[in-house]
Amino acid sequence: MTKRVFIATHGCQMNVYDSARMAELLTPLGFVRAETPENADLVILNTCHIREKAAEKVFSELGKIRALKLRRAQQSNGNMLVAVAGCVAQAEGEEIRRRAPFVDLVFGPQTYQRLPEMVMQALQAGNAGVVDTSFPEKLKFDDLPPTRLGQGVTAFLTVQEGCDKFCTFCVVPYTRGTEYSRPVAQILDEASQLVAAGAREITLLGQNVNAYHGAGPDGEPCGLGQLIEALAVLPGLDRIRYTTSHPRDVDDSLIAAHRDVPQLMPFLHLPVQSGSDHVLAAMNRRHSADDYRRVVDRLRAARPDLALSTDLIVGFPGESETDFRATLALVDEISFAQAFSFKYSPRPGTPAATAPGQLPDRVKSERLAELQTLLARQQRRFNRGCIGRRLPVLLEKPGRHPGQLVGRSPYLQSVHLDADAGRIGEIVAATISGAGQNSLSGSLAA
Ligand code: SAH
Ligand code: SF4
Ligand code: F3S
Repeated sequence: MTKRVFIATHGCQMNVYDSARMAELLTPLGFVRAETPENADLVILNTCHIREKAAEKVFSELGKIRALKLRRAQQSNGNMLVAVAGCVAQAEGEEIRRRAPFVDLVFGPQTYQRLPEMVMQALQAGNAGVVDTSFPEKLKFDDLPPTRLGQGVTAFLTVQEGCDKFCTFCVVPYTRGTEYSRPVAQILDEASQLVAAGAREITLLGQNVNAYHGAGPDGEPCGLGQLIEALAVLPGLDRIRYTTSHPRDVDDSLIAAHRDVPQLMPFLHLPVQSGSDHVLAAMNRRHSADDYRRVVDRLRAARPDLALSTDLIVGFPGESETDFRATLALVDEISFAQAFSFKYSPRPGTPAATAPGQLPDRVKSERLAELQTLLARQQRRFNRGCIGRRLPVLLEKPGRHPGQLVGRSPYLQSVHLDADAGRIGEIVAATISGAGQNSLSGSLAA
């Protein structure tokens, strides 16, 4: 009998990848993915712990799911299993069932390969619940069956997980565990499968993806640059991207890949967090603002049309007005095509959360607003600079208006244009005629 699983995904692209893998793991049990939680047999919240707001969202969402679960039980048409997965599950464990006893399953990012088994257990356990937030010795990727599903024209592929960097603000090393890289052969197999299922673009994922050092064919560790070169040989794989990278791990072979591999798109997300050396040191980023400038110079020398995006945190403990000005100065100098910026959010268990010099929310908000004004201006300028250019656009899906499609430029901008839906999956030349804050519009080039 067909059963319905609804998966809500929060957080980063790695959670998107994990959700797709969870859905796939459940197919042998007869589950198909549902678009809404109503009447689902299994609801999975794949959660994010990175900032307080993200983490609190889980409990408000659980309230709504509880009502659906009760209704389902009253209608006597069966049971709705509720699962909390991902990084909040990893961080909170049993605490989730204490606050929300109707939750049947709690499991972290490193144990979801056991999902079919856990679902069966939960069905038998009644209200006892199943909690598994261990970091098993046997690695997830060794136990996950090879993927058979496609994800569409663009696909995510996790190549590296976990993080050993321990930035003082960040929960990732605690929720995802230590750094691990998948072997090259396993990645090439998965990439071939994705391409065979229709992917033309693959984004390689890792919390710290350029720390990648998976075993190559000869057993020797292979860096991200070499991995990209190996993937570029796959016929039909026209675009390669990777995220998220750390400035310290940009090595010569990665820079060479930006120079030599035409499939590697000229757009790089390279988080800097702050422009102040004092704050960078307190964050344990292990690079200075000048180190960042030098890395960017080298990348731009290798690939002059490279566009950059970044992550920034304002209001880190001890951040003075001068420190904040240094961030604005760095942003002004580099000029980002796109960026994510956040108010510092103290996370339980991280060193910065108890550091002296915590700033009031008002200061954080003011700084964020000022920074975002600058970033928005840079993004608009970058987008406007595309007007009149002819850009290759990978057509991904139907747009909002009839006859319209949406695709992506090499710089990851959404591009709206009129084209036949049959052309989804093609890379077309588009003449760009309009630019908004977040997207471009254009038409098929003659
Ligand atoms: N691995 C990536 C980032 C992962 S988290 C890296 O090394 O850069 C994504 C972004 O969330 C971070 O780059 C950071 O800007 C932001 N972030 C992480 N922890 C945060 C916190 N406690 N408060 C505010 N922003 C945070
Ligand atoms: Fe978090 Fe990224 Fe720092 Fe790792 S490198 S601790 S994931 S911010
Ligand atoms: Fe969030 Fe976990 Fe990703 S904390 S950002 S979902 S690694």
